[in-house]
Amino acid sequence: MSFVDGTAAPDAIAVDAMAAAQAWLLDMEAFGIDLLPRRVAGESAAVAAAAPSTQQRAPVQPTAPSTQRTATTASAVERSAALQCVAAEAAACSACGLATGRTQVVPGQGAATARLMFVGEAPGAEEDRTGLAFVGEAGQLLTRMIQAMGLQREDVFIANVLKCRPPENREPAVDEAQACRGFLLRQLAIVDPDVIVALGAHAARNLLQLTGPLGAMRGKVHTLGRAQVVATYHPSYLLRSPDMKRAAWQDLKFALSLLPARDGA
Ligand code: URA
Repeated sequence: MSFVDGTAAPDAIAVDAMAAAQAWLLDMEAFGIDLLPRRVAGESAAVAAAAPSTQQRAPVQPTAPSTQRTATTASAVERSAALQCVAAEAAACSACGLATGRTQVVPGQGAATARLMFVGEAPGAEEDRTGLAFVGEAGQLLTRMIQAMGLQREDVFIANVLKCRPPENREPAVDEAQACRGFLLRQLAIVDPDVIVALGAHAARNLLQLTGPLGAMRGKVHTLGRAQVVATYHPSYLLRSPDMKRAAWQDLKFALSLLPARDGA
């Protein structure tokens, strides 16, 4: 396909890629991450890149931490098999009323040996349709948050407090969270992450069995078993309140700092 002047028109995939790249750049800016050296007036790009001005903040370049422990293949396979058992049990679950309204159960997905785990609230419409956690708009923001940490989604494990979508995306009810808690606890025990990021007040309260506002839980290291837990804003909230992305980025850097250094480093 080409424009009338003969230049090639970007195809749909390229347009999608450009839109994704633009969203990513906008998020990085909102997180307060400088990706490109800022040009000082009159300075060449090469000089600016080689010698950052003292006026500019040092770009945050998170070194990729080790997110998967050195497991034998068998151990990783065993964990995957155990996670599949949990997913199969969740798929057959009718312990609460959400079972009747779901299209699919959304158990969560990712690396069975992940050192970093994200826990959200409950599946939304897109998750209910696909059976995958965090794939809608909030999920795409979560992907960019993970990438800003120097990681990929495949490096981490992503799950929710609830495995079924509440109608109209309402908050999980106490009995629903209680009925689903066993699945999440088993996933945590199987993956055995070093660090858990609780996305939003609901996940933080459920994981830590605390009450109170998210603000009181942020900026601290909590523990759940041997895992360290950090609470931050839910990506859906960040979509509505982009000004809070900078604070969320501080939480994510805090979580990164708790991960053990890369093996052998
Ligand atoms: N919000 C969540 O908490 N979880 C998802 O999987 C999607 C949106």
